[in-house]
Amino acid sequence: MKNQSSPGLLITLEGGEGGGKTTQIVRLRDKLTELGKDVIALREPGGTTVSEQIREVVLSAKNAGMAYTTEVLLFQAARAQIYREIVLPSLAAGKVVLMDRSRDSSVVYQGIVRGFGRELIEQLNNISTKETYPNLTILFDIPVKQGLERVAKAGTANRMEMQGTEFHEKVRKAYLDLAKEDKSGRWQIIDASKSIDEVEKAVWQVVAEKL
Ligand code: TYD
Repeated sequence: MKNQSSPGLLITLEGGEGGGKTTQIVRLRDKLTELGKDVIALREPGGTTVSEQIREVVLSAKNAGMAYTTEVLLFQAARAQIYREIVLPSLAAGKVVLMDRSRDSSVVYQGIVRGFGRELIEQLNNISTKETYPNLTILFDIPVKQGLERVAKAGTANRMEMQGTEFHEKVRKAYLDLAKEDKSGRWQIIDASKSIDEVEKAVWQVVAEKL
């Protein structure tokens, strides 16, 4: 397994619900832009016209009856599109690409928690991303209860957020296991239970090392 080696830098933000990735990706993008970096911020599933349509289908609370296999393939379909249309060309052009979730979300949610297995999901991830791994993956770790409280305050839950606490505990453990087992050195764990400003500082510390 190798981190992507084109001129750009790929940074992914990962973690369970309510860790504040979405707030932090905006702050990080703005800070990098101020430093003169050519940076884009994306989310998965989504980020392109095609992928945003897939997002609508895969996350809609209306689709409670979706088969897990369908879910696996839809997340991968959205990923294949955003990598071909935006991520790979941007990395080739030397940009910093920030992503709110990417391949590791599928490893955790579909591979480990839904039970499809890491190996199968990594094979699919490699097809979708053309074997692209992030240079840095920041894990926003937060106790499940606190994360779900934040999500509840933020409004309506999507199809994944509607799962029970046990599901989210498995997600948290799976992420921590992945980060701890990692041999590539791309994972950094951040305590996302802290205040927004403190988390921002912690994020900046690990990103600055990669610039
Ligand atoms: P989103 O609203 O973006 O949630 P968050 O703010 O927590 O990132 O919803 C994305 C949901 O989709 C989230 O519950 C995780 C799930 N997901 C997967 O299960 N597999 C994947 O490959 C991806 C990208 C996301």
